[in-house]
Amino acid sequence: MAPTPKLCPSFFPFLILLSLFLLFLYSSLLPFATNKVSTSSSSPPTKIIASSSSCNLFKGQWILDPSKPKPFYDESCPFHRNAWNCLRNKRDNMGVINSWRWVPKDCDLERIDPWRFLGLMRNRNVGFVGDSLNENFLVSFLCILRVADAGAKKWKKKGAWKGVYFPKYNVTVAYHRAVLLAKYQWQPKQSVSADQNGLKGINRVDVDVPADEWVSIADFYDILIFNTGHWWGYDKFPKETPLIFYRGGKPISPPLGISDGLKVVLESMVQYIQKAVPSNTLKFWRLQSPRHFYGGDWNQNGSCLFDKPLEAAELDSWFDPSNNGVNKEARQLNKMITEALEGTDIQLLDLTHLSEFRADAHPAIWLGKKDAVSIWGQDCMHWCLPGVPDTWVDILAQLIHKSLETG
Ligand SMILES: *[C@@H]1O[C@H](CO)[C@@H](O)[C@H](O)[C@H]1NC(C)=O
Ligand SMILES: *[C@@H]1O[C@H](CO)[C@@H](O)[C@H](O)[C@H]1NC(C)=O
Repeated sequence: MAPTPKLCPSFFPFLILLSLFLLFLYSSLLPFATNKVSTSSSSPPTKIIASSSSCNLFKGQWILDPSKPKPFYDESCPFHRNAWNCLRNKRDNMGVINSWRWVPKDCDLERIDPWRFLGLMRNRNVGFVGDSLNENFLVSFLCILRVADAGAKKWKKKGAWKGVYFPKYNVTVAYHRAVLLAKYQWQPKQSVSADQNGLKGINRVDVDVPADEWVSIADFYDILIFNTGHWWGYDKFPKETPLIFYRGGKPISPPLGISDGLKVVLESMVQYIQKAVPSNTLKFWRLQSPRHFYGGDWNQNGSCLFDKPLEAAELDSWFDPSNNGVNKEARQLNKMITEALEGTDIQLLDLTHLSEFRADAHPAIWLGKKDAVSIWGQDCMHWCLPGVPDTWVDILAQLIHKSLETG
């Protein structure tokens, strides 16, 4: 009986230590356990997930699937732009590029059915507003829809209007070039006095005035897809020809840098859209299309001669702004755009992540012109057609069907 009281003092600390150790062990193993659950993508999605309304088409993986149906169009589509017509330009690897299939994690992505889609759109119009990456998107869309209406014909109005009319369905799908969304105009330097900075003039941006190219179209479209982003950089607007921001017709003082200017323009364009575009118009905002310059920027011999998509584990080293790579701007811009769209009825078309993988799918050196690469460098920004934008079209069509058929 005597040892018992003696045991207690040393036994309890031991017990406490033991339970602390077990707690530690448990908590350090916990992340592995949850990880395991969330990455078990090989198991079929359960009914509950598949039918949930939070199905996220933007997260998933590319799977090489040689049985994937051939693209809806080839180099003969009359709506191509030469520089993106990779089949005609004999780009290597086009078969493989178009054999990768985007497979969202918890839901199915259906291939667009051009007949069904145009049927849904009958007597309605779809408009893209933004920069050349939205035009890249448009061309893919037009070439796909044309399959369902051979009478499709080019539709062009003065200025930056460009699109196609589908007579069988009375549908117009068009693009309005407005690279900054806000109105901007070149103003050459007034005086010839010596200028230490080499200033040649300014690009005046009226942050509170939408560009003429799309200001009057609000009522024409039933669906609008906006973007801006690729022009908001010092390579487009160097210090000799800078962006100067105006509000209410007067220069904003103190002057804003490009990034703050973008923030102000986003706020005011989003406000304008909310006010001027009818509320029953379906509105989307396409997030940044990532670039894939490797080994240098576009003007430093950057290249994108890849024969397969990047791995998921490589994406951050390419695109996370903290790594300060040449392609970091997509995620930076997305953050600002997402903030500006909070609380609005504009749906995010977050095509960035799925496109980040596709370093293999740009026109690169196959630009269809002999000297293009030596003059402009490789094109690691736009996309080959047919190619990745066809998947963007599938996603957009699925979202449109969902919105129009359920609401
Ligand atoms: C075609 O669609 C427009 C709306 O975009 C509509 O105003 C017009 O009446 C339609 N035309 C026909 C012939 O249905
Ligand atoms: C790009 O490549 C060309 C030809 O190889 C070379 O002359 C030029 O200096 C390079 N430019 C840069 C910025 O590396």
